[in-house]
Amino acid sequence: MGWNSWNKFACDVSDKLIREMADAIVSTGMKDAGYQFVNIDDCWQVSRAADGSIVVDPDRFPSGMKPLADYVHSKGLKFGVYTDAGRMTCQKRPGSYEHEAQDIKTYAAWGVDYVKIDWCYAEGLEPDVQYPKFRDAIAQSGRPIVFSICNWGVKAPWTWGPHTGNLWRTTGDISDKYSSMSLIGFSQDGLGKFAGPGHWNDPDMLEVGNGGMKHDEYLTHMALWAILAAPLLAGNDIRSMSEETKAILMNPEVIAVDQDAKGVQGHRVWDEGPLEIWVKPLADGSQAAGLFNRGESALKITLDFKAIEAPASAKLRDLWERKDLGTVQNSYTAEVPKHGVVFLKVSR
Ligand code: GAL
Repeated sequence: MGWNSWNKFACDVSDKLIREMADAIVSTGMKDAGYQFVNIDDCWQVSRAADGSIVVDPDRFPSGMKPLADYVHSKGLKFGVYTDAGRMTCQKRPGSYEHEAQDIKTYAAWGVDYVKIDWCYAEGLEPDVQYPKFRDAIAQSGRPIVFSICNWGVKAPWTWGPHTGNLWRTTGDISDKYSSMSLIGFSQDGLGKFAGPGHWNDPDMLEVGNGGMKHDEYLTHMALWAILAAPLLAGNDIRSMSEETKAILMNPEVIAVDQDAKGVQGHRVWDEGPLEIWVKPLADGSQAAGLFNRGESALKITLDFKAIEAPASAKLRDLWERKDLGTVQNSYTAEVPKHGVVFLKVSR
C-alpha cells in the first residue's frame, strides 16, 4: 500500500511535490491506515553521465534523490522510484536496458525501497529474460527492494512473475473512468491461482479521488481491488482530498479485506447479465462478498449462501456502511445502485 505520482501528476513531479505528499500521507491518516510507500513514477530522470550512471532532473530535484529518500524515511514511510526495462521510459527518459545492475545499485545507495519497472521501447527484448536481471541485481544490492513489474500483461507475467518480482501488472493502463476501471477489474477472474503473499497480480493503481468517476463507481473500484488482494497505490492528490475520498481510501474494514493474512485473491462466483458476485475467503474463516451492478440502473442482487459455501444462518456486516446487518437465513437480497456495489462480510 502506498501512493504513486502518475495517475494525478504524470510528468509534473518534483522534490517539493513528493515531500508535500509524504507530509500529507502522515497528516491525513493515510499512513496509519496502512499506506507506506511514496513512489515517484516516470520523468524524474533526464540523461546518463559519462560513467553510465543515471542523472536526476536537476531542476525538479535540486538536492538529488538521497536527501529526498531520507526525508520520506524520516516520516516513517518508504521510498520508490520508476524505470523501464527497455531503452527509454514511456516518456522517453533513459531506460535501464544494459544498465540494469548499475541502476539498481544506484537506487540501493539512495535508500530506495520499491522500484517499478516499465516496458516501453523494449522492441526485440523478452520480458522473462530482461526482468530477472533486475531481480538478480536487487538480490545482489543487499537492500530489500519491492520489485514491481509493469509490462501490462505482455507474455503472461503471472506465469514468470511469481519467481521474478513481487507484483506484476496484468493489463494496460487504467484511466479515471468507470469504463476503464471496470473493464480491468472485472477481467481479473482466474488469475488468483498465481497470487499469494509476496507475489501479487497488479490490476494497476487507484484512481479514487481523481474526479472522473461517481461516488458509487469509486466504491466499486476500491471494493473490487480489495477482493482482488490488489496492491493499493493511491493515485490522487492526498494534500487536498475530500472527506468522501478519505472515507473510501481509509475504510479500515475494506483495507483489512485487501490486506487479509490469508492472501487469497477473490474470484467471481456468480453472474447474470450486468450483475456479478465476487468472493474472497478471509483468514478468520469468513468471506468478503461484493455484489456488483455493472448495469445502467439500480437492480436487486441476491447472495445465496449455499453458492458461496457459507452457513445457512450467516452473520452479515456491510463493509462500506460499517454496520452489522444481523443474522440472516439462506440468502440476502440488496438493491445495488447503477455501477455500484454492496460489500459484505459473511461469517458464522
Ligand atoms: C506506463 C505505465 C504507467 C506509467 C506510465 C509512465 O507504461 O503503465 O503506469 O508508469 O507508463 O510513463
